[in-house]
Amino acid sequence: MPATIVVGGFWGDEGKGKIIAHIAHSDKPTIIARGGVGPNAGHTVEIEGKKYGVRMIPSGFVYKDAKLFIGAGVLVDPRVFLREVELLDVAERAKLDYRCSIIEEKHIEEDSTSAHLKGKIGSTGTGCGPANRDRVMRVAKQAKDVKELRPFLTDVPLEVNEAIDRGDLVLIEGSQGFALSLYYGTYPYVTSKDTTASAIASDIGVGPTKVDEVIIVFKSFPTRVGSGPFPTEMPQEEAERLGIVEYGTVTGRRRRIGYWDGKLARYSAMVNGATQVAITGIDRIDKECYGVTEWEKLTPKAKQFIEKVEDDVKVPVTLISTGPEVGQIIDLRAEKL
Ligand code: GTP
Ligand code: IMP
Ligand code: MG
Repeated sequence: MPATIVVGGFWGDEGKGKIIAHIAHSDKPTIIARGGVGPNAGHTVEIEGKKYGVRMIPSGFVYKDAKLFIGAGVLVDPRVFLREVELLDVAERAKLDYRCSIIEEKHIEEDSTSAHLKGKIGSTGTGCGPANRDRVMRVAKQAKDVKELRPFLTDVPLEVNEAIDRGDLVLIEGSQGFALSLYYGTYPYVTSKDTTASAIASDIGVGPTKVDEVIIVFKSFPTRVGSGPFPTEMPQEEAERLGIVEYGTVTGRRRRIGYWDGKLARYSAMVNGATQVAITGIDRIDKECYGVTEWEKLTPKAKQFIEKVEDDVKVPVTLISTGPEVGQIIDLRAEKL
């Protein structure tokens, strides 16, 4: 399967970073390319006891043999990008499209003080909304206009399409999630762009006929940060009783927690054209499943949950994450596809 897109099925933070890191290690892509909005995203990857939170560099960076690309559709904050390049030591293999739009200090200032964006919508304050507005107004700077970014510039669509045509595996990362899509989410409580698989493909310049697999990631207990409707939300005390307390990777805000939403999951898989489902947090359905790596070792309660997910979504569940570490996963792709 030469081109695979991984997207979020709920309100972001489904654990895409962890799923992508697993796929990268097992499938060995030559390129991992990131689409999505920009540094409002925070992907967490835990590997060999170390925890990384990445906002600009693809979360597949932990797989060392892949080139790491950021597509033209993604907003780039040069300071965040350069800091991550240094911190993760990926200067040799990280590249961004020369047409990426740039987040400037004024965008961050506006996003983090605006009564509408920060106050009402509950934005991440990372400048994404105002920067996308400037892009639509055609006044935004592009990556090619920023001196410090010059060593990292490339033509991402050209590199990615040539790799796909050679038969290489290209892994494409989305960010945020379906219900945060500007088009299909809980408008106006959404992010500043569409976040579905088609948009992610467009972000990196790959046409729909080139994409083979779309893996949609759902967490067993969906979460949401920021304001807006959340039909299956549970009271905080109930989440605490279940032992689920999460904080945002970027903003540190406490995530709202809800019950599985089969109706939303099915609709989201439909619009994304999902061919596979990845479920994270199965250890939250049943603590006994923590760290399990084989289907047979899941408890009946966990197996029933997975069967319910397949019944709701009508797409096979091929990846089951049983904990935050990269190795804590059941990979059923060989059996189910
Ligand atoms: P966005 O691009 O911001 O939407 O992020 P994301 O989808 O990469 O998810 P993020 O890392 O923000 O949040 C997921 C959280 O769940 C992280 O803290 C992960 O370490 C954790 N996580 C991932 N898989 C599992 C799992 O199977 N079980 C548990 N308990 N935690 C998990
Ligand atoms: P913005 O994208 O910063 O404008 O934020 C708009 C809404 O999307 C807010 O509710 C944010 O909390 C939410 N959001 C944006 N990016 C993410 C993400 O990566 N994970 C979870 N929520 C996000
Ligand atoms: Mg996140």
